[in-house]
Amino acid sequence: STTPVTVTVTGAAGQIGYALLFRIASGQLLGPDTPVKLRLLEIPQAVKAAEGTAMELDDCAFPLLAGVDIFDDATAAFDGVNVGLLVGARPRGAGMERGDLLAANGGIFGPQGAAINAGAADDVRVLVVGNPANTNALIASKHAPDVPAERFTAMMRLDHNRALAQLAAKSGVGVGDVKNVTIWGNHSAKQYPDIAHATIGGRPAPSVIADDAWVTDTFIPTVAKRGAAIIDARGASSAASAANAAVDHVRDWVLGTPEGEWTSVGLVSDGSYGVPEGVISGFPCVSKDGAWEIVQGLEMSEAAQAGLAVSVAGLVEERDAVAELSLI
Ligand code: NAI
Repeated sequence: STTPVTVTVTGAAGQIGYALLFRIASGQLLGPDTPVKLRLLEIPQAVKAAEGTAMELDDCAFPLLAGVDIFDDATAAFDGVNVGLLVGARPRGAGMERGDLLAANGGIFGPQGAAINAGAADDVRVLVVGNPANTNALIASKHAPDVPAERFTAMMRLDHNRALAQLAAKSGVGVGDVKNVTIWGNHSAKQYPDIAHATIGGRPAPSVIADDAWVTDTFIPTVAKRGAAIIDARGASSAASAANAAVDHVRDWVLGTPEGEWTSVGLVSDGSYGVPEGVISGFPCVSKDGAWEIVQGLEMSEAAQAGLAVSVAGLVEERDAVAELSLI
């Protein structure tokens, strides 16, 4: 289509923003036929930096980029939004209690949810990247009662892609030969990466890997703690890979997942797999006709059930804490 799609990116002057905006503007988010209008939201102190990034976007002369506008006000930034990428968040400061972190993020994601409720397009789709992503998505969704809850998603795709890469390296195949991994639960160190239903070169991953100890003692902790390993090596947190995962997530959501393949999405629970209704948890999902559907009927081992239960307990604790603070 030739009608531009409006994409709002928060935290646009941050490091993920810098890795993300150029890929959106080049057509990698929505395909080579869809022009995009970018709306960048920043805090007032970072507006000037966002303007610098906008100058560089101009200087790329992207044929699909139909305009860039910069805001420090959420209501204006989300006016008419079709795709919202909520990247900006309050990081955990030294000595900050969890309650303080949740309260600070509630102060960001509550008003942003309300702004989306007030001004978004009917087809709005939201991906929350800013941490704690699942709970921030819940807060935003609860402030947008007129937007279906399944339009607010949290990013599990970086964990998913990390899992694909580890399995490909272990089994000596290309990453494209690895399919149907699942990251269950919370995007946190307590996530549960699951290869039980994955395939490698079309064969069941557990029998290709044939090393249960490696899965439990190496694979799962490597994927779950990869963020810390990147900080340790790079001296800065994952940014390009996070931006890439955001692009993958939205592209699959809008354009559909390939037949027979699923990905991992932080989606509002309908009670599937025993996850309490309303919690935003990582699930195996396919995208059909522009909507995520949780893949049903996967058999879960006792270990997988236990891993998911631990992760979901963390999500429920966060939900109860934000409810206690009247943030939802
Ligand atoms: P950064 O600190 O470089 O950038 C964050 C930007 O957000 C800053 O420019 C800041 O001014 C802006 N910001 C803060 N409050 C805002 C508000 N109320 N409205 C608009 N903008 C606001 O951080 P980075 O590296 O870009 O990461 C962003 C977030 O993404 C962090 O919360 C990080 O933990 C999270 N993350 C999530 C991942 C996931 O897999 N879900 C992976 C990697 C990072």
